[in-house]
Amino acid sequence: MTAGLISGPPDVARKRVAVLISGRGSNMATLIEAARAPDYPAEVVLVVSNKADAGGLLIARAAGVAAVAVTAKDKPTMEAAINRALEAAHVEIVALAGFMRILSADFVQRWQARLINIHPSLLPAFPGLDTHARALAAGMKRHGCTVHYVTAGVDEGPVIAQAEVPVLADDTPATLAARVLVAEHQLYPKALAMVAARLP
Ligand code: GRF
Repeated sequence: MTAGLISGPPDVARKRVAVLISGRGSNMATLIEAARAPDYPAEVVLVVSNKADAGGLLIARAAGVAAVAVTAKDKPTMEAAINRALEAAHVEIVALAGFMRILSADFVQRWQARLINIHPSLLPAFPGLDTHARALAAGMKRHGCTVHYVTAGVDEGPVIAQAEVPVLADDTPATLAARVLVAEHQLYPKALAMVAARLP
């Protein structure tokens, strides 16, 4: 640090993050926004979608982030293409945000301890799809979201952070989803910062 410099860039190496999406990309947008802060320990350098028409691709490009679609249906072909894109961008952390393909054990192993996901329930409750309707049907009083490391089992990896929301008497799956989404947008940037700060 230069003597006499009162403020300047933080003395940390920001981890290079890719976000994998399939749709609207609202969580991706919150990660991009959070990473604008100069003291945030990560930067979003790439967005990858498995759907060419994902709205999140446009949001990422408008924010100045490289964004590509990898649309191969065959999983090995798709994962090889994603890995090429991640390696070309020197990515260190992969954040799944509404990415709707299940990744192979090989892919998960390649990114072990560097692959995270956000899931709209308080895991281990309600892994899989339709979490809000299932939480209502089960009469839950609390619901929420989880950021976890990805392992070979779907929605099973170690929890990094969770956020709770109340379930209200007149909730529908849509109103509950909207409340959980607000919590997701607060939780994911904090959890990604924790993961980035933990890595060497
Ligand atoms: C979020 O609810 C996320 O938890 C789930 O899929 C949704 C994606 O929404 N995995 P968005 O694309 O981030 O807006």
